[in-house]
Amino acid sequence: MNKNSLLRIRDLSKDELMGILEDAQGFEVLHKDWQLPESKLVANLFFEPSTRTHYSFASAELQLGCKVEDFAASGSSVEKGETLYDTVKTFESIGYEAVVIRHKKDEYFTELDNINIPILNAGDGAGNHPTQCLLDLLTIYQEFGRFEGIKLAIIGDISHSRVAASNKEAMELLGGECVFSGPKEWQREGWPYMPVDEAVRWADAVMMLRIQKERHDSAMSMSDSEYLAHYGLTKERAAAMKEHAIIMHPAPVNRNVEIDTDLVEAPNSRIFKQMSNGVLVRKAVIKRAFGIKGF
Ligand code: CP
Repeated sequence: MNKNSLLRIRDLSKDELMGILEDAQGFEVLHKDWQLPESKLVANLFFEPSTRTHYSFASAELQLGCKVEDFAASGSSVEKGETLYDTVKTFESIGYEAVVIRHKKDEYFTELDNINIPILNAGDGAGNHPTQCLLDLLTIYQEFGRFEGIKLAIIGDISHSRVAASNKEAMELLGGECVFSGPKEWQREGWPYMPVDEAVRWADAVMMLRIQKERHDSAMSMSDSEYLAHYGLTKERAAAMKEHAIIMHPAPVNRNVEIDTDLVEAPNSRIFKQMSNGVLVRKAVIKRAFGIKGF
């Protein structure tokens, strides 16, 4: 495995993580037009649907001067039964210099030890989503200028979420606090839990999660409006947030399910800012993937 791969947040030291955030912040203004010293050939391998992660990686790669190929499993030899390992090894063999991968299998990258080019994890099953976590962290840092003592409440479908696990690891590493809320049957054992109304009042950042219906074994027994009333961010709950607190969501958003549609672009919502930050963070992890330190 290439040492510049990014697979899980827990593989990063605090200094490495802060270094990525610093580079990402640098890309916002000071180093907006910075490009790699030489163009690199990068393939985006998305085996699961994606809009934000896929196209913000593509945008980041293009802005850095990479040549980019977007792979579609449909129409490829995956349809003839080719394994993930053989697919990625093929990309390496034919000259690609890094791959971005999203796959439904938890920790799919454990099968890819013999791949020598950097692998950037764009989401594995219900396991990890390191670049989503980094863009969440950048958004929190821009808002509060620190992580120590910052309270993050993550509310919703925790057990099927790869965002929740990555953010918990990161906040613990950086000195913040993380609590979880939503339906009890969707919580993870041993993780700190607070009822929704309490969590919303407690937090500096309230992160709502989508119900990951595609990962559920059975249909939800509650209607969308019942879910919003019981567990969602309603206008009433939002009014009880701390004055300085922000609303976050990794998106895609199911409006009027986990969040009232009017709150998605409320003044204290950072949902679209998170998406813009996604490009900055992905530029930083691509720069790191090619072993470039500093600008
Ligand atoms: N937040 C996120 O991962 O969105 P996409 O599934 O659209 O990439």
